[in-house]
Amino acid sequence: MHLRRFEGRVCVVTGGAKGIGAAIATRLGLEGCRIAIADVDEVAGVAREKDLRARGVEAIFVRADVANERDVENLMAIVYSRFGSIDVLINNAGIMPSGKELEEQSLEEWRRVVDVNLTGVWLCSKHAVKYMKARGRGVILNIASTRALQSEPNTEPYSASKGGVVALTHAMAISLAKYGIRVLSISPGWVDTSAWQVPPREPRLTPLDHGQHPAGRVGRPEDVAALVAFLASDEAEWMTGVNIVIDGGMTVKMVYLDEGVLEESLAVLLRDRELAHCMRRLIEVAREDPARAKTMLREVVEKL
Ligand SMILES: NC(=O)c1ccc[n+]([C@@H]2O[C@H](COP(=O)([O-])OP(=O)(O)OC[C@H]3O[C@@H](n4cnc5c(N)ncnc54)[C@H](O)[C@@H]3O)[C@@H](O)[C@H]2O)c1
Repeated sequence: MHLRRFEGRVCVVTGGAKGIGAAIATRLGLEGCRIAIADVDEVAGVAREKDLRARGVEAIFVRADVANERDVENLMAIVYSRFGSIDVLINNAGIMPSGKELEEQSLEEWRRVVDVNLTGVWLCSKHAVKYMKARGRGVILNIASTRALQSEPNTEPYSASKGGVVALTHAMAISLAKYGIRVLSISPGWVDTSAWQVPPREPRLTPLDHGQHPAGRVGRPEDVAALVAFLASDEAEWMTGVNIVIDGGMTVKMVYLDEGVLEESLAVLLRDRELAHCMRRLIEVAREDPARAKTMLREVVEKL
């Protein structure tokens, strides 16, 4: 049973049809909020609206591309005319580019990622604040990513867009503070969204995926939704402008590769400490005497 911190309030969740946005919409809805889901996926949007209503949440779906100013202006006007206020905006819609090498990345793809992930946040905020100013209060929560702070190779457009979201967050927080509007960003780490797709999918996660997290598991959309519910509530009224990382401890975990880390990873992967230790010994032998390690391995493989 959840608290009812949003009784009488209205929230717009972009990208709320599926994934993290859907979990946020559901959590705030169950806490008494009226919900408007904005998404480009109409099939999933209609399904999510139906699911929310079945849970007793007053909800509407509006088709809107966050990168299109006319769509966004129209979205906010529809929500206001239907519900009479906009109290909370969750800028969650986001896309991930294909992961090509830098020279292979197209300007078109760069622009689309930045348009949706960063310009979309700016556009939605720009068109929601006039309704918030009229009330003298409001909360804007932007879903950034730990990739604003650290990277895998070939993720330039995504990382840059999310870094932009973090900077846009403190800029808007300072501009809007005098109107009683708080602005925060949340940077999730790895969140498995399978259960919140339309239709839901089975997660495909390995013990290594979970075990490498200091918190012992990959994140769930509900983890992010619980944080959003706190930050959007009056309980967080002294917080604005900052970026909160929620990642099971991954970004503070220092990793230097050595045999110890390999053994630990193998133990998690194989679920067998003894076997992991034997493999570590083999790696140590290979470092000292590669020919001897090869002979040992060949003998093992021949017996298979
Ligand atoms: N899943 C993760 O591991 C993770 C980690 C860090 C940050 N994030 C961020 O969280 C947010 C949600 O991600 P997710 O994993 O739930 O993704 P998802 O793909 O499951 O959901 C994203 C939703 O946004 C919608 N969308 C895409 N482009 C849109 C547009 N132009 N206008 C309106 N809606 C649009 C999609 O239709 C979809 O319903 C994104 O901003 C993402 O960058 C996700």
